[in-house]
Amino acid sequence: MRIEFLARKYIEVACDMLAYPVFEGEKPDSDPLVSLDKATRGIVAAVLDSGEFKTDLHHACVIHHPAGLKAGRLLLIGAGKKEEFTLAMLRQVAGTAARAGRGAGCKSVALLDRGDHDAREAARVITEGVLYGQYDSDIHKTRDKDERAVERFVILSKQRMARSEAEAAIGRGTIIGEATNFARSLVDEPANILTPAQFAERALAVGARVGLEVQILEREELEKLGMNAMLAVSRGSAEPPKLLILRIPEPERKARDGAPFHALIGKGVTFDSGGISIKPAEKMERMKGDMAGGAAVLGAMIVFAQIRPRHRVIGLIPAVENLPSGSATKPGDVVRAFSGKTVEIINTDAEGRLILADALAYARTLGATNLIDIATLTGAVMVALGMVNAGVMGTDQKTIDRMRKNVYVAGEKLWQLPLDDEYRRLIRSEVADIKNVGNRWGGAITAAKFLQEFAESTPWVHLDIAGMEYDDEGHPYCSRGATGFGLRTLVQLMMS
Ligand code: BES
Ligand code: ZN
Ligand code: ZN
Repeated sequence: MRIEFLARKYIEVACDMLAYPVFEGEKPDSDPLVSLDKATRGIVAAVLDSGEFKTDLHHACVIHHPAGLKAGRLLLIGAGKKEEFTLAMLRQVAGTAARAGRGAGCKSVALLDRGDHDAREAARVITEGVLYGQYDSDIHKTRDKDERAVERFVILSKQRMARSEAEAAIGRGTIIGEATNFARSLVDEPANILTPAQFAERALAVGARVGLEVQILEREELEKLGMNAMLAVSRGSAEPPKLLILRIPEPERKARDGAPFHALIGKGVTFDSGGISIKPAEKMERMKGDMAGGAAVLGAMIVFAQIRPRHRVIGLIPAVENLPSGSATKPGDVVRAFSGKTVEIINTDAEGRLILADALAYARTLGATNLIDIATLTGAVMVALGMVNAGVMGTDQKTIDRMRKNVYVAGEKLWQLPLDDEYRRLIRSEVADIKNVGNRWGGAITAAKFLQEFAESTPWVHLDIAGMEYDDEGHPYCSRGATGFGLRTLVQLMMS
């Protein structure tokens, strides 16, 4: 798809569909709708007066052959309250426009940017939303695939921008949008295809394409290093574990004393059956998405290879499959983690924290000054927050605050949960330094307390994105399926 920026009057733009966002309370007889109404000789007033169209976000209405316009169709899109219109909403409106255009078989779609945002930021997020909206989860369908595609998408703006600036903004949006769709495709991929080995292969392939250095630590090396918490999870599977390490080649920027060095750590459980503490059959197939945190980290690192962030950053993805078998870890087993702490594994289904424990401790030995992990870690966070907000916890309050502020751009909602010391005693073990589960209550927090033991004194943020990895409903701006949740938060954090 070609995406371009034009500072031209929408009346003059020839395209198959022109998308025009309408804010709450706007009337066809006053500015700015009055000119659209005049141009279309009263059609807009007729539609608004009929009550058929609502200005609720993403409500859309198509008008064919609008007289006076060069567009084949006019799409009115509800944009909500003007003063509450964020870049995150603009991204979605762009997705709605692109999807509506595709659904109508349009080859060229234009969107009028009516927000008051910085034109470069607007062009970037519109590009992201358009690409996001074009993704479908039908990777393995051999028939009934929707092959239609919008070929040209035009961003219309009243603001002027130099051509080079517009191209750069659209270029950044394309990098982020494509990386997000790549992450989504990994999450949608079934576990028989996306094994830990295949995860590593895909990282190597995309790394070679975008200039991301990918190192894979194999089982023997993990054994030598003593990553026994991670190894305990993969013991039941015939698929060997892999630790993916992603680096941005930067010969020109050597590590400076005191300069921040972020480690992004993503849970990469390619399938979580629960292991010996096996899960019920119902919805178990969704556990192919238990590597969504890892996919977000890989996607973010793909972006950073192409758009350099301000600070040094490294990505770590412990990739394993959690299955029961004759060689699997059993409840009650004790392992010595990479950090030296001993862990009693009470429940083999609390496997994410085991692999993250070793990856967090390993990142510290690499010199990371700020740790950020992202994981589909607990069902408990879904009980607490539903599927609207992901949970955020940690000891690095500055970074947590910045992430939460960025929601208005990234559009990924985060809600902070507490980490009081009193929760720590719930994971005290009788036989080892710590056990891997608490009791029924506050499960998202006790999981985080477990991780905190391995982040130790290094400033650390934990994102529990369980439940956010898939969207079952689908929306006007995107199909149902994998979301790529977390990638934009990581990108926005490192870019701002
Ligand atoms: N991968 C799951 C968490 C999860 C649940 C992700 C639903 C996405 C949707 C995790 O490994 C897990 O099984 N957690 C257990 C922990 C429990 C045994 C303490 C849980 O939440 O039930
Ligand atoms: Zn589990
Ligand atoms: Zn899991």
